[in-house]
Amino acid sequence: MLDVATIRKDFPILSRKVNGKPLVYLDNAATSQTPQQVIDVIVDYYSIYNANIHRGVHTLSQEATDKYEEARHKIQAHFNAEKAHEIIFTSGTTHSINLVANGFASLIQKGDEVIVSALEHHSNIVPWQMLCEKTGATLKVIPMNEEGELVMSDYDNLLSNKTKLVFVNHISNALGTINPIEEIIKKAHHVGAAVLVDGAQACPHIKPDVQKLDVDFYVVSAHKMCGPTGVGMLYGKETWLNKLPPYQGGGEMIAEVTFEETTYADLPHKFEAGTPNICGGIAFGAAIDYMNSIGFDNIATYENELLDYATKKLLEIDGLRIYGNTKNKTSVISFNVGNIHPYDIGSIVDKLGIAVRTGHHCAQPIMDYYKIPGTVRASFAFYNTFKEVDTFVDAVKRAVQMLS
Ligand code: ALA
Repeated sequence: MLDVATIRKDFPILSRKVNGKPLVYLDNAATSQTPQQVIDVIVDYYSIYNANIHRGVHTLSQEATDKYEEARHKIQAHFNAEKAHEIIFTSGTTHSINLVANGFASLIQKGDEVIVSALEHHSNIVPWQMLCEKTGATLKVIPMNEEGELVMSDYDNLLSNKTKLVFVNHISNALGTINPIEEIIKKAHHVGAAVLVDGAQACPHIKPDVQKLDVDFYVVSAHKMCGPTGVGMLYGKETWLNKLPPYQGGGEMIAEVTFEETTYADLPHKFEAGTPNICGGIAFGAAIDYMNSIGFDNIATYENELLDYATKKLLEIDGLRIYGNTKNKTSVISFNVGNIHPYDIGSIVDKLGIAVRTGHHCAQPIMDYYKIPGTVRASFAFYNTFKEVDTFVDAVKRAVQMLS
């Protein structure tokens, strides 16, 4: 059992007030909060050893380089990548996906097919649409059902020897559905297709093992798992990363440059042009340490209890409908009450100190499926409490009374 009262003391922001009320932060799927242990690492970087990496012989540069590479090794160990150079630092999930999509432009052609799921965030749809426009490849979609699950029998029918790539999220940001990525990967490999898994929503809840999954690409953002914004990871199997051309040209990604010809650096530097988010990368490593000190099994058990409790309490409200009712989901509740606009509920609960996200959550195809403009989304983390759930449910009731 987690000692949530003690854990909360690690998060300075959780003791602030919003609109005169204690903050109840339930927008964790948008971004997680940052513990003091990670904030300290950021302060230390700028106070003690701020320098550019891989470039200087001076002490500060070497210290910064060592810490940055140490963070890469922490990330490698956490996701169980075979090699540290299979971890590419990026600015986040969106950057990682664009890097891969851009690279595939030279590997696929007209007549090829790529498969996306109906449960994706726009960041795992639009880059692939751009790839299809560029190459003439065709985009196919694994449909979803009323429960917010993927229709896997339809996936079987979409796969063929024309399929070159499948991209799917591990967990839906809008509904919390955990997708059967093991099965998706196995079946894609059976027809020779590569698979990219968007793990942005999974990384705060699950510790994925990329070798066990046998996934070709796995991408995350640090800020979803107690790290800072503006930094993330692309894991790619070495064989794939060697096949993909560089995404951006610049310093640090080259072996030799002349005006006649440039040769590229080895992995991971081939994909890391320019000065990276050095502090962010180091803090990403610290966030991974922090999450592991809490323990992912503990996190999953506690968050499931919070989810069950919040689901039961919210469903006591007349006219409240939860979207995405699969048993296999994480601590995300997307809902509407009658015809009340989600924005109105979100605005009223904000006045009571509660942060939730409202709208289409960058997943318009899911909203179109349910024929709604959006939802109110409450997303819980291991530092939320049952008391906060009560406060939230009371606030929704109050909002509904005011708006009905
Ligand atoms: N993708 C983030 C969310 O779901 C921003 O809110």
